[in-house]
Amino acid sequence: MKKPQKIEQQKSIIAPQEGEPGTNKWTRKNRGKRILLGVLCLLLIAGGGIGWGVWSSRYPDRINMGTACQMDGMKDMSMSDMEKMCQAGNAGPGTPIDTLQAPQTAPRIDTFTLTARSAHLSFGSGNSSDAWTFNGTSPGPTLHVRQGDLVVVHLVNHLSFGVTIHWHGMIVPNSADGVAGVTQDAVKPGQTYTYRFLAKEAGTYWYHSHQESFEQTGHGLYGIVVVDPITSTVHDDVDTTLALHSWNSSPTLNGTMGTVHVSAQPGQWVRLRLANTDNYPYHVTLLGASFLVAALDGHDLNGPTPLAAVPLSIDGGQRYDLRFRLPEYGPVALLLAKDGDQQYTKVPAVLVGQGQFVASVLPSLSQNEFNFATYGQPLADPITLQSHFDVTSTISLGFTIGFSNGRPGPVFTLNGKTFPDSPEIVVKPGQLIRLHFENNADSGIHPMHLHGHTFTVLTKNGQALAGSPIHLDTISVRPHESYDVAFYADNPGLWMLHCHNLYHANHGMDMMIVYPNISTPYTIGNASGNFPD
Ligand code: C2O
Ligand code: CU
Repeated sequence: MKKPQKIEQQKSIIAPQEGEPGTNKWTRKNRGKRILLGVLCLLLIAGGGIGWGVWSSRYPDRINMGTACQMDGMKDMSMSDMEKMCQAGNAGPGTPIDTLQAPQTAPRIDTFTLTARSAHLSFGSGNSSDAWTFNGTSPGPTLHVRQGDLVVVHLVNHLSFGVTIHWHGMIVPNSADGVAGVTQDAVKPGQTYTYRFLAKEAGTYWYHSHQESFEQTGHGLYGIVVVDPITSTVHDDVDTTLALHSWNSSPTLNGTMGTVHVSAQPGQWVRLRLANTDNYPYHVTLLGASFLVAALDGHDLNGPTPLAAVPLSIDGGQRYDLRFRLPEYGPVALLLAKDGDQQYTKVPAVLVGQGQFVASVLPSLSQNEFNFATYGQPLADPITLQSHFDVTSTISLGFTIGFSNGRPGPVFTLNGKTFPDSPEIVVKPGQLIRLHFENNADSGIHPMHLHGHTFTVLTKNGQALAGSPIHLDTISVRPHESYDVAFYADNPGLWMLHCHNLYHANHGMDMMIVYPNISTPYTIGNASGNFPD
């Protein structure tokens, strides 16, 4: 009796072979396998989801923005004929985009050559970076032209990839708009391309590459354009441009991390033309004299009144013309802060005039900032809230986590969609178009830029503007803000409307405003290598 018991006992203590049924070790291993299988399944599902997201969000190989194939007048054409015509790559009938050009000649012509090439830039205090530049500097040369002149710019590409030039804020004919894949092919290495347009409106504008604009503008392919008015009611003794751009995550003005010195004599009128060529939002103010906001996005304000140390917010793509009279004693300083900073961090970023800058107390950033909706004096404007609008469209700005052009991560949306599935607005020549922008959530700051047109701002947060008429090409829509803007459809073509935080544009926040019956031979996508943002 005892023996078998012992044997059984003995048996029970025999270490089971690995994987043998009925043992703890086997059960543990089995559970491990099941978990592994489950994890694998989840990974597969997640992977499938990611794969689907990557795949479905990727740009098609060929995106043609032409509208000739959407035309009602083509209904009598058979579907297959139309498709053949439209998908042949020449985009079918209609007005070819290349015919939307400036005149060949004019009484006065300003000619420039901009050579895209790499350079090593130093920003002062030992800071430097490899960069892509126009003519070896960033910002590239400031182009000074006179209003009404024909501007001819030869772009020469000495870089190893395609580039273009977009004339931000300028009312150029569509073929000169510089949008890769819409108005031209990116200019290949070694090639040359010529832009031709009339400098229609005076003011402060800028230029930048619109091929992979997030990368290329960020890495230095930009510069300022100043259009001097034929006649002017104001006189400036000193007139200077300031391009705000970050390098190695530090803000620079005109490519320096130090202080920009501007010479001026006491009593002289000074105009500072400040352009945010960056993606970050900033605040600036002037200390040492009261100042006027003379123009926004190049367009004069009516009856600007003096401001004392009021913070001005300036977001991607926007420009401010600030004017002041240099006082008898002491220089005037421009102070700079990144959005969200508690105080001005760059003191001074610009120093105008002679003498030491002394500020024992810096002005507060928490005081009310400049608000164009109540600044200056009202004046009759061709577009008012009472105008009849032919097209009204709401554009809701949003943010989510998902996929854009095959990449997982942040996604910036227009009416919940990303480029090229974002809404398209069709406008006809002569129509008055009203756009309602709303940023209902905390989706970030979105300076929305419209190509080829200047718009009038009608309302801010539902309230009619009470000050000077405001004409812009870039309207910054901050969280929980809304704006109504309106413009005449007076420049036929295929035009982009996008966020000028170019990172947002690169992650979905672009759309098109198009005129009917325009064809383009150019396409966006892998087939052409044109990627405007
Ligand atoms: Cu300054 Cu479409 O850009
Ligand atoms: Cu944005």
